[in-house]
Amino acid sequence: MSFDVPKNERLLKWVEEVASLCEPDRIHWCDGSQEEYDRLCAQMVEAGTLRRLNGERRPNSYLAWSDPSDVARVEDRTFICSISPHDAGPTNNWVHPKEMKETLTRLFTGCMRGRTMYVIPFSMGPLGSNIAKIGIEISDSPYVVVNMRIMTRMGKKVLDLLGDGEFIPCLHSVGAPLAPGREDVPWPCNPEKYIVHFPEERSIWSYGSGYGGNALLGKKCLALRIASKIGFDEGWLAEHMLILGVESPTGEKTYLGAAFPSACGKTNFAMLIPPGPFREKGWKVTTVGDDIAWIKPAADGRLYAINPEYGYFGVAPGTNVTTNPNAMASCAANTIFTNVALTPDGDVWWEGMTDEPPTELTDWQGNPWTPACGRPAAHPNARFTSPASQCPSIDPEWENPKGVPIKAFVFGGRRSSTIPLVYQAFNWSYGVYLAATMGSETTAAAVGAVGTVRRDPFAMLPFCGYHMADYFHHWLQFGRINSNPPPIFSVNWFRKNADGRFIWPGYGENMRVLKWIVDRANGRGASVESPLGWMPRYDDMDWEGLDISRERFKELTSVDRDLWKDEIIAHEELFIKMCDRLPKEFLHIRELIISSLWRSPEHWEQLGEVHAEGWNE
Ligand code: OXD
Ligand code: MN
Repeated sequence: MSFDVPKNERLLKWVEEVASLCEPDRIHWCDGSQEEYDRLCAQMVEAGTLRRLNGERRPNSYLAWSDPSDVARVEDRTFICSISPHDAGPTNNWVHPKEMKETLTRLFTGCMRGRTMYVIPFSMGPLGSNIAKIGIEISDSPYVVVNMRIMTRMGKKVLDLLGDGEFIPCLHSVGAPLAPGREDVPWPCNPEKYIVHFPEERSIWSYGSGYGGNALLGKKCLALRIASKIGFDEGWLAEHMLILGVESPTGEKTYLGAAFPSACGKTNFAMLIPPGPFREKGWKVTTVGDDIAWIKPAADGRLYAINPEYGYFGVAPGTNVTTNPNAMASCAANTIFTNVALTPDGDVWWEGMTDEPPTELTDWQGNPWTPACGRPAAHPNARFTSPASQCPSIDPEWENPKGVPIKAFVFGGRRSSTIPLVYQAFNWSYGVYLAATMGSETTAAAVGAVGTVRRDPFAMLPFCGYHMADYFHHWLQFGRINSNPPPIFSVNWFRKNADGRFIWPGYGENMRVLKWIVDRANGRGASVESPLGWMPRYDDMDWEGLDISRERFKELTSVDRDLWKDEIIAHEELFIKMCDRLPKEFLHIRELIISSLWRSPEHWEQLGEVHAEGWNE
């Protein structure tokens, strides 16, 4: 034992129970020190789990290659085990908790034999914040320990703060007991996987995977699935949102929360660097978080958000010094890379990192690689785990335990048509409707036909720990009880023209949309009414330094009646799935949108630049 164990009866009892179930050889209470981190990394280098990278090029950094069968979150093996199936709802896998506990107890029996059982105390959120929560992860994976030290505030200081208070138990095993004398493999895991949440009991059991969100239980399991249910019970929000700050030339600071499904450039938006003319005028974007926001109403009537995480678990492929220099700087040192390629001089590489690939590499499966070999060098879901404090755009308030005041919410999917560049919902209920019906085109990285639109309400489809329609009610209720809820915006960076080419440059140029949003959120910023909400006209946006024609802007902001007919029918398909608990507001809003779309074209003359083309049948 590395220090005196705490006097938390519940914790001691749980650790004892888990130890007698899993039968580890040793128990190690993690103190979270640098010394402990270094020792575990050295041990994993010895075991072949990690490679130490070239200290000149990538100081204090390591590379792990996972088992090829264990490379991503396993949504089909993820369960919400509420007592009633109706509380898990139609979008979650469900098994009765009693039956699931029996299955898991069988699987966990003796599952840590030959291994060390690590007790990992962690805080999601700044220590002592009234929005933060403490979890304890028990895991038999040292890879999990070192990643958790980057991704959360972890170690003895958390136990000191916990005292005899409440914590969320998170039990994890890679499911690979070691028979006496048998040699370990570099990435132990089990083909049978279970990622299980007991929302009433507020506990997590994860078996069989050592990768990412399946194993680092503070992230998706605690901070989204369990926390969303706690937020529902307690009147706050746990969201799949980045948090960013925008500083105007006058020094006005505006924070917003933005939700995007996977592969929609969330980390890039969180770390946006404004284009030259904006920077010269004094606009600045700062990063509070890139993935998760916990949001609570405060006594001053405003909503305050914290980033519960302490690091980034970022997707590496596609990240480079042009698309996201802040992310590149964040992973320049003190980083654990997983499933990227290794260069001959001991650094890392992934697709999209440089225009020209290196002439030779070792790929993520340890095989020799050349540009001509026809295989990707890095896995498409390869990751970097880096301390958030290393991000050059980190916001000075990111560790403020009170959080930052949220002035606007933004929702955006990947849509090649239909959804305009930006619009502001008419009111809170409209905003909740637009977020609930958000869709995104699937990419090559996701399972399913590429380009089909999958509804991903609030970007929370895989992360809501209870019935999705109850979640919609919770959001609607939030707008009722908080007197001045922030305005809600929809954005779409991914519109394409008839030739299939993107018509919006994206990345730093998204600042132009962000500026309009910030102006609107602060009670400025001109707009016109469209059938969906308030939209900017061409002249309402700042185009300095970017050559976007009025024609192009029309294309970007057009609302096509026929496409919207299909869109509304797709909303209906989602609603039918949840008809038992669907908020009544949604049906009324849907009808209002339909009747706005079918008003006479003359009505839309006032739109000016936001044209009514295609409506005049
Ligand atoms: C993530 C995800 O890893 O959303 O953040 O999958
Ligand atoms: Mn995410």
